[in-house]
Amino acid sequence: MQACVITLGCQMNEYDTHAIQSQLASIGYSFVDDIHDADLVLVNTCAVRGKPVEKARSILGALRKEKKRRTVTIGLMGCLAQLPEGQAMGAKFGVDIMLGPGALTDLIPALRQGKFQNFAFKDELRDYAPPPPNGALSAHVAITRGCNHKCTYCIVPTTRGPEVSRPAADILREVEALRDAGVVEVSLLGQNVNSYGLEPGLGPHRKPLPGFPSFAELLRMVGQVGLPRVRFITSHPINFTDDIIAAIAETPAVCQYIHLPVQAGANRTLRRMAREYTREYYLDRVAAIRSQLPDATLSTDIICGFPGETEEDFEETLTLYDAVQFDMAFMFIYSEREGTPAAAHFDDIPHPVKVARLMRLIERQKHWSWLNYRRWVGRMVEVLVKGPAHEGDLMQGHTRGNHTVVLPRAVAPKPGLYAVRIAHATPHMLYAEGVAIPEGRPAATAA
Ligand code: SAH
Ligand code: SF4
Ligand code: F3S
Repeated sequence: MQACVITLGCQMNEYDTHAIQSQLASIGYSFVDDIHDADLVLVNTCAVRGKPVEKARSILGALRKEKKRRTVTIGLMGCLAQLPEGQAMGAKFGVDIMLGPGALTDLIPALRQGKFQNFAFKDELRDYAPPPPNGALSAHVAITRGCNHKCTYCIVPTTRGPEVSRPAADILREVEALRDAGVVEVSLLGQNVNSYGLEPGLGPHRKPLPGFPSFAELLRMVGQVGLPRVRFITSHPINFTDDIIAAIAETPAVCQYIHLPVQAGANRTLRRMAREYTREYYLDRVAAIRSQLPDATLSTDIICGFPGETEEDFEETLTLYDAVQFDMAFMFIYSEREGTPAAAHFDDIPHPVKVARLMRLIERQKHWSWLNYRRWVGRMVEVLVKGPAHEGDLMQGHTRGNHTVVLPRAVAPKPGLYAVRIAHATPHMLYAEGVAIPEGRPAATAA
């Protein structure tokens, strides 16, 4: 029996795909990339913006055609399956199985039954850990699932349910198993990892849950397991406390890469997004990070054209960019999500205005990215090489700070950790010594 699992969306979905594949492997499935070779196709979907929803629709369309030709079981899983929009889509395209993200441990009974659906957020997922991936150097570990925040644009709390922290002992056991399986880098995952082990609530003063360490303490514990690299994603500014910064600084295994989504620069927009912090609060967290972790990479998520965002509001996002000088940024156009407060209460702004703002942001980000990437020219960095680069006889990997590095195959013949000196930088890439910079790209050489 052959299965094809298609993954859209974020790292949490990639982790869930691994959990899905582990269940399938335990009942004898092997895996193929081409839907035409598969007896079972599962689509692990994302609903955060319109684009991934459209992508899911086109995949389901192709699968319906395939199903007319031959026997194949189709499953709709992931965040879209949790929403009425996705469930209607699943019915329309004749899928056999629909499982929400909270019910993915029901996959084996679902396959036995043939027709099956479940959209509950099951408690047992808290205790579920997939076995280590085969031969992988990097792996994910969920430390929390779900989200308790109420950002007005965001569908994730609906698709993933309320925030639940996994017991520290389970997390440590999973990380130890990954270490024993040869994993070099583990990423701790959560919608907001910083609120790990906190009681439900909002704002900066949530109490600890009885019996749970704080996120800072968890970082120190995982840092002692013996893995060379420990990452974590995503951080929410409101709970990014000084003790977390200290834990990062004092735990050598913890990579100094901080993804701290700000979403917007104007207080008026932040308030209407219900992000819980102000621009000043965010800048204060950035100042604390910069003073304690001067080499840390700082990245962000930004939404352009949130409903009602004025030109002045948007300019405050640009000035925030200049104040922070992010190393990297993931920039999105606001996409209205049915069922969110923003969709119900605010009017969307014209698409061309959003696109124009996005373009201005991208330009500004390029400037700061390049400046930040250039700081690495002439320095030695540790690279986790994952495999061949897209072009030439080169290999590709990433630094502890999450910069992509291209290096000669002679230096790094196979995947693993290497130390290299950086010779060139572009706004998106570092080039190790011995790699010629490709034509047509701006080059920055060591001064
Ligand atoms: N839990 C994380 C991110 C979750 S979604 C956090 O709180 O930061 C990932 C990113 O998608 C968000 O940071 C946001 O920038 C973007 N996003 C979420 N909803 C969106 C929407 N309706 N339109 C555009 N971008 C959105
Ligand atoms: Fe969405 Fe906000 Fe929760 Fe992040 S913190 S998942 S943006 S609701
Ligand atoms: Fe991730 Fe998309 Fe769901 S970003 S949490 S897969 S809506």
